[in-house]
Amino acid sequence: MRASPHPVSRKSLWLSQAMRASYQEEISPLRRRADHLRSEIELKDNTVIVVLGASGDLAKKKTFPALFGLFRNKFLPNGLQIVGYARTKMDHEEFIKRVKSNIKTPSKDMEEELEKFTKVCSYVSGQYDKDDGFKELEKHLEELEKGQDKTNRVFYMALPPSVFIPVSEHVKKNNYPKNGIARIIVEKPFGKDLESSRELQAAMSPNWKEEEIFRIDHYLGKEMVKNLLVLRFANSFMHANWSKHYIDNVQITFKEPFGTEGRGGYFDEFGIRYFRALTALTLADLLQILTLLTMDRPLSFSAEDIRDEKVRVLKAIPPIKPENVIIGQYGKSLDGSKPGYKEDDTVPKDSRCPTFASMVLFCNNERWEGVPFIMKAGKGASSGC
Ligand SMILES: NC(=O)c1ccc[n+]([C@@H]2O[C@H](COP(=O)([O-])OP(=O)(O)OC[C@H]3O[C@@H](n4cnc5c(N)ncnc54)[C@H](OP(=O)(O)O)[C@@H]3O)[C@@H](O)[C@H]2O)c1
Repeated sequence: MRASPHPVSRKSLWLSQAMRASYQEEISPLRRRADHLRSEIELKDNTVIVVLGASGDLAKKKTFPALFGLFRNKFLPNGLQIVGYARTKMDHEEFIKRVKSNIKTPSKDMEEELEKFTKVCSYVSGQYDKDDGFKELEKHLEELEKGQDKTNRVFYMALPPSVFIPVSEHVKKNNYPKNGIARIIVEKPFGKDLESSRELQAAMSPNWKEEEIFRIDHYLGKEMVKNLLVLRFANSFMHANWSKHYIDNVQITFKEPFGTEGRGGYFDEFGIRYFRALTALTLADLLQILTLLTMDRPLSFSAEDIRDEKVRVLKAIPPIKPENVIIGQYGKSLDGSKPGYKEDDTVPKDSRCPTFASMVLFCNNERWEGVPFIMKAGKGASSGC
């Protein structure tokens, strides 16, 4: 047999063909299932998205820019309206200024798109613990929905967890759609520990069906995280090597180069409590990523099957030993240009809240036994941490 003049390229051709075939084989049922799920959960025409807490940091930095991204890419359904709700009194112009404040428009087209986007945005001001504001909101929604036979409403809580319960109750009482789909989205944290999470669940269950509640963590929407599932389960070569036999250790790091910057009150309350519960603000995100990295292939890609696999992995993780944990708090930057954690006016001067945590955990199942998973999370962290 004559040797191939290009043995390497032949091999890579074979590899790429084999990978494509295996990809097709593995991904097709998943894609069909994903398409089916998408059709079940995708937004229907004539939907109103109500952003509760629309005056806040999350709404400004993430929610409105993300909605604009969907709008610009034509991913939002026809007739969509976005209504902001919060206690802050502001007129339409001021609200639109806030909506726009974190959206970059590098081109003329984008600027025009943003103008169009603001045309579907409006604002209602009201309290979180009284019916009056929600009744005002209802009037506004009915006005927007005039002439529609179905009214689909998505309520997105960009609010501090302390008001989740009253808001979800008032929304159910005053704004639940009479004829159409209802969804309530709770941005993580869903409670600050097991007890408060159960309390929140117990308060929401009588009013909202499980399929109406979406508990979300926007970090899991990042491309890199979403790609983990494809990387692991659509690629047989990767899948076959994904175990203790080929992987020495796994490091998952989340670091923010900036500090609390005036939001230390919130962080100080939640950072330390989370840490005590070993679900620190960012470590909770990292645990989610850990489960995506380590879980076995779910029966399907439905939310329930993925959750079951994640729980199986979490159950295989024994309690973390204190000697495998390091915590710390960031100080002034070496060049003195950035303040330390306790120099933030919103942080108590005697705070012992950890702003950095690193821990090693193990997963005692057949696939991962003995492999250390090193998780690091830090605010105000430099590249060396
Ligand atoms: N910011 C982020 O990047 C981020 C990241 C991950 C998760 N989250 C989660 O997203 C949710 C919202 O975060 P956020 O940063 O937007 O919070 P925020 O700015 O502190 O609060 C959002 C809005 O809620 C109202 N509010 C604030 N404190 C309140 C209180 N004690 N009682 C009643 N209402 C209050 C304020 O609106 P009015 O005074 O106008 O009513 C505020 O504009 C939180 O659960 C947070 O954990 C945020």
